[in-house]
Amino acid sequence: MKRPIGVFDSGVGGLTVLETLKEQLPNENLIYIGDNIHSPYGDKTKEQLLAYTTEICKYFISQNVKMIVLACNTTSANVLDELQKQFPQVRIVGVIHSTVHEFLKKGCHHVLVIATHATIQAHKYKQLINDYDKYICVEELETPHLVPVIESGEYKTGIADILNDYLLSYQNKVDSIILGCTHYPIVLDQIQKILGDICYVSSSASICHEVSSYLKLHCLLNTQQTIGNVRIYTTGNVDEFIYSSSGFFDYNDLKVEFLKL
Ligand code: DGL
Repeated sequence: MKRPIGVFDSGVGGLTVLETLKEQLPNENLIYIGDNIHSPYGDKTKEQLLAYTTEICKYFISQNVKMIVLACNTTSANVLDELQKQFPQVRIVGVIHSTVHEFLKKGCHHVLVIATHATIQAHKYKQLINDYDKYICVEELETPHLVPVIESGEYKTGIADILNDYLLSYQNKVDSIILGCTHYPIVLDQIQKILGDICYVSSSASICHEVSSYLKLHCLLNTQQTIGNVRIYTTGNVDEFIYSSSGFFDYNDLKVEFLKL
């Protein structure tokens, strides 16, 4: 029960998931890896993604984790099955199924999915939604410029031009949007300024629900009454990681360390 949960993404985006996990499961010990040396994941091949994530999973297993969370849509869409086959000894979950589950509860009919190139090309969101209801209209849009501006910290001064280019033509057209990349909730307020009062679905809340259900079901919840230990690593530059995430992630007394995989 005291064993940690491993959580990873290509960079700071998965911190949006880590934040919710920390809030909802405060007793759990968590290890986060931002694989910044390979960021962005969205323009990588399946082979590259599998190679990077295999190393991350091996590290987590060496740390005796009880569960691994892919806080990343790109790897959830492309290499989740392969990782689950390669590491059957540990439960590995991605974010897409739970995000679709959350979306379907809303009863929307016309959704825009924005995500990285590799996520959109895998068509997982469209497939899963239309398997459930073929009458839901699912529009897919690659938005590859967003992760680099978020990772660099440029998003802090506003990225209206980029977002307008991507989203203006969907104004008053869709009733919902899936933020199909864990980096995108970081610029949610800027997206809302363009698309207004529609339904917004992202991965953070839904995946946490799945993690806690799994832990409860298997009696793996950490029942100790102490606040869990959270370790945060980046495979890239520590100062840059802190700079780009300090606008939205509350570090308190947490620190970020470099990790070589
Ligand atoms: N945040 C990740 C995702 O959810 C990775 C984005 C990237 O590195 O391109 O897809």
